[in-house]
Amino acid sequence: MNKENTVSRLPVMSGKRAHAVTSDGEHQQPAQKKMRKVDIDPAPRARPAATVVPKRMLPPKQAVTRPLRPTGAATVAAGPSQGLHRPPVASVPKAGATAISKGPKRPGWDLKGKVSDMEVKVQTYQSRVKSVNQENENLKDSISKIQKRESQMQEENVQLKKRLRECEEELSALCSMKKDLEMVSKERDDLQRELSNLSEQHKVLQGLRDNLESELCNVQSQLSVQTSALNRCQDSLRQSQETVSSLQETVAQQRDELHHGEMERRKLHNTIQELKGNIRVFCRVRPLLTEGKSEIPHIQLPAHDNKSLTLARVEESHTGRTVDTQKSYNFSFDRVFGPSARQQEVFEEISLLVQSALDGYNVCCFAYGQTGSGKTYTMEGGDLEDMRGVIPRAVQQIFKSAQALKEQGWQYTFTASFVEIYNETLRDLLYTGKSNKRPEHEIRKVSNNEITVTNLTYQKVSTEDEVCNLILLANQNRSTARTNMNDHSSRSHSVFQLDIDGENRDRDIKCK
Ligand SMILES: Nc1ncnc2c1ncn2[C@@H]1O[C@H](COP(=O)(O)OP(=O)(O)OP(=O)(O)O)[C@@H](O)[C@H]1O
Ligand SMILES: [Mg+2]
Repeated sequence: MNKENTVSRLPVMSGKRAHAVTSDGEHQQPAQKKMRKVDIDPAPRARPAATVVPKRMLPPKQAVTRPLRPTGAATVAAGPSQGLHRPPVASVPKAGATAISKGPKRPGWDLKGKVSDMEVKVQTYQSRVKSVNQENENLKDSISKIQKRESQMQEENVQLKKRLRECEEELSALCSMKKDLEMVSKERDDLQRELSNLSEQHKVLQGLRDNLESELCNVQSQLSVQTSALNRCQDSLRQSQETVSSLQETVAQQRDELHHGEMERRKLHNTIQELKGNIRVFCRVRPLLTEGKSEIPHIQLPAHDNKSLTLARVEESHTGRTVDTQKSYNFSFDRVFGPSARQQEVFEEISLLVQSALDGYNVCCFAYGQTGSGKTYTMEGGDLEDMRGVIPRAVQQIFKSAQALKEQGWQYTFTASFVEIYNETLRDLLYTGKSNKRPEHEIRKVSNNEITVTNLTYQKVSTEDEVCNLILLANQNRSTARTNMNDHSSRSHSVFQLDIDGENRDRDIKCK
């Protein structure tokens, strides 16, 4: 140091700062040099490979820039940067430089002193060049380390980017998987709900199935019972069918027999009627109409004979000299009905003839007698059931018998007519037209000795009521007048005619 103070000062080589020259010949800017010093990290710390550390930009240290003096040795960088161990530049103390530049000026003649100063300066500069070179080498090492580190970092960066892409891909895959998972979980929830519903339905259906199975068991047992019953029924049905077919045959035989029997009965019945007499005369004694008198003294009816009648009367003497004599007149009839005989008794005797009419025989029944003797009462009777006369009872029997004969295949049609003979003129009692347009009638004989009346109303009837209505109509049309013997004397002859047409189509038989 002392030497420095003693040596003459040499002028600086240049007023401008020379650019530092790197080992590869490139010029570096001063600021960059300062930054490089700051960033040097001689001992790179070990970091985890996966961690990306952003480049930490330290604030640039305030470079200490000393004003270059024409006589100054060189600028000296500020204190050492963090972590960078730089070899100290011992040979260039600050004080020395200042001493050099501010040393006492040697006189112009002191060439030796000046040379020695120059030599000191050269040595100083040489040592500074040396130190700068050393520093340069250090910096080169640092740069190479940094470059190596940078390449490592770049590789690491590439790896990390690659890893990042992979992670992003994984993340997107995971996101889609998450969405899928959410959907799947939602579907699972739905399916679980559906499963619970289906489970409930399953339980209900199981209950129903159990009920149905038990019902099925019952039905099957019933079915087996019914099947056995059905078999029994079928057996009995077969037997019944056989019985029915045999019975049908029997019925057919019996029908034949019945028909033959019926035909035989008709024959016999009518033979009997003929034997009894084709013309039969019955006598009916009317009761006395005056109250209190029940016996008729001049009519005697033998108790044990219902076919004879005796009229007794006292005959006065024509001369008056002899006593009155009791004379009796005996009459015999096919049947005598006394005053107490009821309508039913009279009809029973006639009903056999009504049966003959249904069998196809012509039957005529008429009442004859003086006025008030009871003809109309006997033939028509009164409204009460007990007082009904021969005609309504005969009609009732005819329709009943016709109905019964239907089963033997007989079909009957009935035609009614009612005619009045009054003063030898004919009147249609079933006429319903205007009275001034009444047609005239004649009795004519047509083929088969049939008697017919021209322009007469022949009314088809099919029920008993229809006939009764016709009789009422006829009674309204009939001429009546009061007589001494009868308040409602008919004053005429009336003929009720019922034509009966019978047909048995099965056996092709007709009767009229
Ligand atoms: N058997 C009887 N029982 C009770 N009353 C009878 C009987 N017969 C007739 N009569 C009564 O006698 C009366 C005369 O009878 P009905 O009119 O039948 O006589 P009729 O013969 O028809 O007379 P006409 O020829 O004048 O018409 C009637 O009031 C009737 O009710
Ligand atoms: Mg009469």
